[in-house]
Amino acid sequence: MKELTVTVQRFDPDKDKEPRSQTYTVKVNDGARVLNVLHAIHDTIDPTLSYRYSCASGQCGSCAVLVNGEPVLACMEEAKDNSTIAPLNLPVKKDLVTDLVPRLATMAHLVPKGTPVVPTKEDIDAIKPLRDCIECLACVSVCPAVDVTQFLGPTAMRQEMRLALDPRDSGDRIADAVRDGLFTCTSCQACWKVCPKDIEIPGKAIEKLRSQANKRGFTFPRHLEVAAMVKETGRSVTREKPTFLEQVGEVIEPYGPVKATVGFFVGCMYNNRLPQTALDAMEVLKRNGIRIIIPHDQICCGSPLIRTGQISFLDEIKQKNIDVFQSRGIDTVLTMCAGCGTTLKNDYPKDKPFTVIDINELLTKYGIEPPAKLPVKVTYHDPCHLLRGQGVREQPRQLIRQVADLVEMPSICCGSGGGVKSGLPEEAAALGKRRDAEIKKTGAELVITSCPFCEFHIAASTDKPVRNITTVLLEGYREKDTKSALKH
Ligand code: FES
Repeated sequence: MKELTVTVQRFDPDKDKEPRSQTYTVKVNDGARVLNVLHAIHDTIDPTLSYRYSCASGQCGSCAVLVNGEPVLACMEEAKDNSTIAPLNLPVKKDLVTDLVPRLATMAHLVPKGTPVVPTKEDIDAIKPLRDCIECLACVSVCPAVDVTQFLGPTAMRQEMRLALDPRDSGDRIADAVRDGLFTCTSCQACWKVCPKDIEIPGKAIEKLRSQANKRGFTFPRHLEVAAMVKETGRSVTREKPTFLEQVGEVIEPYGPVKATVGFFVGCMYNNRLPQTALDAMEVLKRNGIRIIIPHDQICCGSPLIRTGQISFLDEIKQKNIDVFQSRGIDTVLTMCAGCGTTLKNDYPKDKPFTVIDINELLTKYGIEPPAKLPVKVTYHDPCHLLRGQGVREQPRQLIRQVADLVEMPSICCGSGGGVKSGLPEEAAALGKRRDAEIKKTGAELVITSCPFCEFHIAASTDKPVRNITTVLLEGYREKDTKSALKH
């Protein structure tokens, strides 16, 4: 047995105006789950505590709660000392019991065809990745689009795709999905990361539905323009100044001994819109012993096409980029755009002839020369495609702490991804406002991020300056050089 202290969010609509926190200490067995702790509180301290469970074995989904802010199944999550337990971010009926009915009532059901159809093994295999949902609604509770639009939510889209793949169903699942908010998803992947059944809703449902929607003519005109631009120019955004590739040679040598050689994939935004940021990154890499090879015939990674379901010429794009790096004998491709990084890592073939590394991973792997510490309080925005797309969380923080004082804020989507910024600007603005509110709470003077889409969008949503991580590191090096020049 062991003793655990937990704080539980309580709320009784008949008595309380606001939720309140209550701390309990209970005795539970070693290895106890959060549900065991709730049982212990209920049975030994406060029988009025309300929570929901049924199977107690991870099968029914009814016990989902937030533990330390993260959605989990109470019956599966190991109970830890000093945790906080709160309801999911859904309408609360009492304490930890949320109202699931309005959401579940919107889920589509199979509408049988007039004549019976028997699914083939291929049909069943195709449906498999989408059918394990236990309707816990953890995905809905973290979805940014649900927060600011009428989107029915990730699991509703999963169900539409599951039915679209089912030959027994007669519904028009594509039209229904478009009506119910298919294009509001920002591709943040929060739904997938919290799913207790690991259902990859963004890739296996949203993007698949979007590509079917594309064939049916539902793609937004603005997204069609982007695809046409990629086809015509190899880039997804217009150029505004000399591009990055026009300002650099094919090889950049470091100042000192070579620690590593990488090929650099610049991406459309850094090449065409923010070339100075990419040039700043090159300076940081040069200073830290990285030899950089930059094939000038590289093109868009294809991310804007994948996220908006326009995949008719995607394979040619992938092959072109694979060929340009392979022809230079490059075994490691470096990305500094979170969107390009997740695309090259996760959407390109698994057997591609190189590994892909994000710049934060590379700099922390080989270590950096310490910069001067800048007298500024900063906060860091986790790009969804870096945090959830690539699992890169600690590395940018390690780098930032060397150059400034870091204040944390919640890792929420800024609203720039999934084609939402171009296709649904009001939604993107609403999510940008939500991001800005969290920035303001930190009291930081500067926002740091590591994705050009986030950088652009957050800069338009806040009055604080927004900088790329490598630009701030370079400022730290310049400050260090100035101080050392003054000494001599
Ligand atoms: Fe059924 Fe937890 S009680 S999943």
